[in-house]
Amino acid sequence: MNLVEPADDSQIARSLPTAFLEAYGAKPAFVGRAPGRVNLIGEHTDYNAGLCLPLALPHATYAAVAPRADGVVRARSVQSEEGFEGRELAPGRVAGWPAYVTGVIWALREAGYDVPGVDVLVDGRVPLGAGLSSSAALECAVAVALAGLVGGVPPEAMVAAGIRAENEAVGAPTGGMDQTVSVFARAGYALLIDFDGGPRTQVPWRPEETDLTLLVVDTRVSHQLADGGYAARRADCVAAAAELGVPSLRHAKHVERLPYNLQRRARHVVSEIGRVELATSALAVDDWPEVGRLFTESHASLRDDFEVSCAELDVAVDAALAAGALGARMTGGGFGGCAIALLPTDLVDTARKTVDAAFAERGWREPAYLLAVASAGAGV
Ligand code: GLA
Repeated sequence: MNLVEPADDSQIARSLPTAFLEAYGAKPAFVGRAPGRVNLIGEHTDYNAGLCLPLALPHATYAAVAPRADGVVRARSVQSEEGFEGRELAPGRVAGWPAYVTGVIWALREAGYDVPGVDVLVDGRVPLGAGLSSSAALECAVAVALAGLVGGVPPEAMVAAGIRAENEAVGAPTGGMDQTVSVFARAGYALLIDFDGGPRTQVPWRPEETDLTLLVVDTRVSHQLADGGYAARRADCVAAAAELGVPSLRHAKHVERLPYNLQRRARHVVSEIGRVELATSALAVDDWPEVGRLFTESHASLRDDFEVSCAELDVAVDAALAAGALGARMTGGGFGGCAIALLPTDLVDTARKTVDAAFAERGWREPAYLLAVASAGAGV
């Protein structure tokens, strides 16, 4: 199986400082680590003041940092030739992947932290562009490493800096789910996040104790450049809330009063928030078939009402269900990226073969797979 294994932390703890020494001629002061994520349920709800239930993957990004006395920032990556060197970090001044790094430094300084010039070396082990939040992993790995340099940054401020980097420095209009889970996740738990100013709750997620596995299918397609579709859906939600006279769709009632297109968007958001509540209740009593059923219902809503799925995601979901999954759905922003399937562990191989065959039959590239074991959030 085309399985993407997580990196071995202890191996990175040896290799990254060595690579840093080669790149910059000195040892790093701190190495930050922050994970990618899959969202179990609650999709396109974060920017609607809704609920979502993501977990952190064992796949993470690592950032090694050392302070510089001259105020210069340098950013390099193990994976890329492209890098950055300069002092001007404001939004619009840095292009490409280094903008995630410089965006976090800029945002922390804006928040009042005295971040010095730094050398940064990144080792990214979250698959890129797969909708598994490699960008949030990068932001949070940098934030947690810089927190070491400035003598501590509260986790909320790290999350906020990651979100500002993403929204303002990179210009991607995403919600806050990815950074929140990357920082606050705990091994063995999913994180219930209430974006209406409510609490963050650790929800036990241990399907392996019931011989179940959460399989991630990476379709390896991405149909929307620069998140145009994502921004359009977000705009639809803002328009629907305005039309209903509510501050956000979290508080929407009577969505049937909306024009058809906005009605479908709002119906997805409202029903999806309800499914997060139901899934959380089902998990509390180990009702895994119900969790699976809610996953599949979520997928139908994202496909038909919110229209952010695509042929590859639909085929992956249908094939996983045909192979015996309790439930399956696209995860993340959509328009490509990944699906998740909750499977009896002894059916994982069958499911993978069924998905592979369905892709091959259509002449599509072979998908990749990850095992989503609920893992820890950011740390040094
Ligand atoms: C992307 C965004 C998140 C969230 C999801 C959809 O992953 O980064 O903030 O909106 O899409 O649930």
